[in-house]
Amino acid sequence: MTKKVVIDCDVGVDDALALILAFHSPELEVKAVTGVNGNVPLDTVFTNIQKMLSFIQPACKPLIARGANQPLKGETIHAHSVHGQDGLGGAKIQCEDGKTWWQNYPRHASELILEMAHQHPDEITLVAVGPLTNLALALKQDPAGMKKLKELVIMGGAVRTRGNVTPYAEFNIYSDPVAAKIVFESGIPITLVPLDVTHQVFLTPRWMEEKAKPLNTPFSNFLIEATGYDIETHRFRNRDTIFLHDPLAVAAVIEPTLVKMERLSLQVEIQDGEYYGKISEVKKGPEIDVCLGVDAERFLELFVSGLR
Ligand code: BDR
Ligand code: CA
Repeated sequence: MTKKVVIDCDVGVDDALALILAFHSPELEVKAVTGVNGNVPLDTVFTNIQKMLSFIQPACKPLIARGANQPLKGETIHAHSVHGQDGLGGAKIQCEDGKTWWQNYPRHASELILEMAHQHPDEITLVAVGPLTNLALALKQDPAGMKKLKELVIMGGAVRTRGNVTPYAEFNIYSDPVAAKIVFESGIPITLVPLDVTHQVFLTPRWMEEKAKPLNTPFSNFLIEATGYDIETHRFRNRDTIFLHDPLAVAAVIEPTLVKMERLSLQVEIQDGEYYGKISEVKKGPEIDVCLGVDAERFLELFVSGLR
């Protein structure tokens, strides 16, 4: 039995890698891909979704929709320094001319998410790997409809570890904490994939040499380009390692035994100040399954299988 998924993303290099993994996994049936402002502005996110689908050429064309172009509250932040101006690390993508590999949904991403939930009650896993604005908007519109989702798997937060935007907050949650609070308090079953666990899965120059380079497929070559790996100097452009945040969220759906979870009561800080966007463990609050451990080796095997 395949799992029906909808992916809400802000493509983004690791979002792009998550899409490759998802569409190449026979365990998943990706019904729709929705875009949200995040790593790059919404227009770029939406272009990147189309670019990635033209590259992947999925057998079943997913619906795609544009979502929120700003957070519910607060200023928009982007992560061009990590993902490049185009959000794909400047990687060139070979696309076949004149073919479309998706179906355009004419309305907002939040409506597409709701339509999927209504059409396939208790069957859809929504994998959210960007800021949670689209999900919060859908919840405001039709909370009962959203409850028809089977589960949410969310990449976001830093629970017992340092943040990556501030010492306390992680990018996806920091970008729209009000949306995160609405989603956390929705009562929909949530699996959270925070930095605590995504920082355990990363690519090193050695891995690139031993596993990625020898593959020499369009997808392994995309990985090399998008991550800025220099095959001459054996180094990444501006970092020592590349974290696979979003692919891990997809992997947790494909193979839940890869991760170790603890059920925690969590709260999101939405007040301005030093702790803005921080997730804290509290005595009483929404209960969320939080991934804290991962079999990194087995995950990387799964990840590389998606590049073949
Ligand atoms: C998350 O933020 C984005 O930069 C990545 O795509 C990932 O979803 C990691 O903090
Ligand atoms: Ca992302």
